[in-house]
Amino acid sequence: MAYIDIENVSFCYPGQSRFVLRDINLRIYKEGVTAVTGANGSGKTTFSKLLIGLLKPVKGRIQLNGKLLSSLTLAQIGRQIGYVFQNPDKQLFCETVEEEIAFGVRNLGLPPERVTQKVREVMDYFELSRYAQAYPLSLSAGEKRRLALAAVFALEPGLLLLDEPTTGLDPYRKQLLGDYLDKLVAANRGVVVISHDQKFIDRYATRLLRLEDGQFIEE
Ligand SMILES: Nc1ncnc2c1ncn2[C@@H]1O[C@H](COP(=O)(O)OP(=O)(O)OP(=O)(O)O)[C@@H](O)[C@H]1O
Ligand SMILES: [Mg+2]
Repeated sequence: MAYIDIENVSFCYPGQSRFVLRDINLRIYKEGVTAVTGANGSGKTTFSKLLIGLLKPVKGRIQLNGKLLSSLTLAQIGRQIGYVFQNPDKQLFCETVEEEIAFGVRNLGLPPERVTQKVREVMDYFELSRYAQAYPLSLSAGEKRRLALAAVFALEPGLLLLDEPTTGLDPYRKQLLGDYLDKLVAANRGVVVISHDQKFIDRYATRLLRLEDGQFIEE
């Protein structure tokens, strides 16, 4: 069964005549790494925001796990789709790196020792431990990216939706990210990666979608 079912979805921003997305029909599964590519301004980020309910289709409907997206709260959607913003500055809001990761994990209702363990695990993996007490927005671009990823990965959502996750990462950190995605896929989780990084896509994607003129082309 499709995890996300998109039926006849069109979208244009208020006050604009141009449709960014036109009559999209697409199924996204909770398996493998689905890559979404497309030129700047083709609507990739817009599409991702529709999937997490931040934007609403002008026409058509989206179902998540068999439920209409429009019937779910942002929090309910957020528990099923982990979203990492293209710009980490839009996502980070806590006083310390450790708190940034712990904040969401605590809301999962885990016992405190599991929270501490989870936070430590992802901080170690993304090499953020030495910044545990640092102010997130004071980190370098690559460190902020890793923190944004770590904070969402720690929540272990069924599907991850990553908007340009390799931006600002050096080759070694890209590989760490890719290896993490491989592990998630092996654990029956799905990943959707919006990316211009052809090398990364070639290495890790199992399905390739290109957005062009408001429509998806399956490659
Ligand atoms: N809030 C907004 N109001 C009006 N138009 C917008 C808004 N946000 C984006 N757009 C327009 O919608 C189109 C798609 O933008 P979007 O950010 O989804 O593209 P993208 O494929 O993610 O681009 P990039 O590769 O640069 O990240 C662009 O033409 C953009 O200018
Ligand atoms: Mg974008």
